[in-house]
Amino acid sequence: MRLLVTGGMGFIGSNFIRYILEKHKEWEIINLDKLGYGSNPANLKDIEDDPRYIFVKGDIADFELMKELVKKVDAIVNFAAESHVDRSISSPDNFLRSNVIGVYTILEAIRKENPEVRLVHISTDEVYGDILKGSFREEDAIMPSSPYSATKASADALVLGWARTYKLNASITRCTNNYGPYQFPEKLIPKTIIRASMGLKVPVYGTGENVRDWIYVEDHVRAVENVLLRGEPREIYNISAGEERTNLEVVKKILKLLRKDESLIEFVEDRPGHDLRYSLDSWKITRDLKWRPRYTFKEGLKRTVEWYLENRKWWEPLVDERVLHPTPWKLGW
Ligand SMILES: NC(=O)c1ccc[n+]([C@@H]2O[C@H](COP(=O)([O-])OP(=O)(O)OC[C@H]3O[C@@H](n4cnc5c(N)ncnc54)[C@H](O)[C@@H]3O)[C@@H](O)[C@H]2O)c1
Repeated sequence: MRLLVTGGMGFIGSNFIRYILEKHKEWEIINLDKLGYGSNPANLKDIEDDPRYIFVKGDIADFELMKELVKKVDAIVNFAAESHVDRSISSPDNFLRSNVIGVYTILEAIRKENPEVRLVHISTDEVYGDILKGSFREEDAIMPSSPYSATKASADALVLGWARTYKLNASITRCTNNYGPYQFPEKLIPKTIIRASMGLKVPVYGTGENVRDWIYVEDHVRAVENVLLRGEPREIYNISAGEERTNLEVVKKILKLLRKDESLIEFVEDRPGHDLRYSLDSWKITRDLKWRPRYTFKEGLKRTVEWYLENRKWWEPLVDERVLHPTPWKLGW
């Protein structure tokens, strides 16, 4: 298998590449990443000399580059995206370019150069919007709440439309909130671990009652591998570990693992449009592809806290105003 992974220098993509190269000794991977702000070449330092791995710096919205790359591979997993909701509020333009035009460019390159190629497009639970009771299933309507989720929802529509009209072998995954090693320090879990271990106040948006459905990144990565190998064309697969927690609960659990006092918690102004609760039903991927999560939230969070404590050298250079500002969407990037 020759695989093109886009966005492989980011959080989930780098975990995916490391996992695949470890598990499938005969596979080769091309990692295409524009090295945007959320990426970090240090994420894959340990495998950069592996002869089965090639890194290409470039943009998925570059049609000529995409045409060259899709010809060389059997499958594509598209992780590349602008991914941070706070940033999408202050500057949505880049989100349109990467998350919509980028996906359109991949689809057009496939259609024109290699229509047989397998595509797994990585979407998100945020396309459904929030839900107060129950859990979203794949056939539910999309109702995005932020510029980020609006661009991701647009991309899903493009993938479905192209797959049906041009008979492309494309599937979509929609996963809940990930956490684990190599997550950029501006996201809730790493930010909390880092700030608390630096002795700084830990900001919690609003009253901290927003609920997220958490999954350890390795479980997500195995789910994507399953969809790549066994998923059906034009199907959407929800991916969830069913571990719902309020943001406040998450922050308190991290402080406990770090043996820090809850007085570090500081409630700050809520993010505009903040979805109250996300929840996914992932029965379909369990039934059809036999995927199940392996990590409970308790186990995954403990591993994650330990990883950040052991890898200060990885995150220290990344600590800037995004981590230090309590309400970063106001920074006007
Ligand atoms: N993090 C989560 O909790 C979560 C949950 C569900 C879905 N997702 C989705 O998973 C994917 C990966 O998320 P992540 O958390 O690893 O994000 P990330 O920000 O850590 O990584 C994204 C990577 O994509 C690259 N990139 C962005 N635009 C690009 C472009 N135009 N061309 C080439 N590379 C580009 C960036 O440089 C970065 O390395 C995204 O599509 C995201 O929407 C994330």
